Amino acid sequence: MWGTMLTTEAGFCPAGPADLALGAAERRQVEGRDVIVARGQDGAYYAVAAMCSHAALPLEGGRVRGTSIVCPHHGARFCLKTGRVLGPPAHEGITAYPTRQEGDEVMVWPL
Ligand code: FES
Repeated sequence: MWGTMLTTEAGFCPAGPADLALGAAERRQVEGRDVIVARGQDGAYYAVAAMCSHAALPLEGGRVRGTSIVCPHHGARFCLKTGRVLGPPAHEGITAYPTRQEGDEVMVWPL
């Protein structure tokens, strides 16, 4: 079974190495889905939808502030923990995926 099971019994899937610096974020693929994997200033890993809810533009390139991410297009800010909007112009939140670190790997539950 080792090496063949991509999804753990809990539904978490590999989302790449846990090698991000504090405050870094990058687009990764989890089970064929684009997600933004980010490392908050608290040291934890987070994963959110790759698309901003404001104008459906990519969140890739957004800056991490604390445990939030700022959209690079018009500045909407989203909580990395919950996906809720913290700053305009977005009105709707984005999906925040359950995330955890297992050894050297980030695991994301793509829901
Ligand atoms: S597309 Fe993200 S704030 Fe406008």
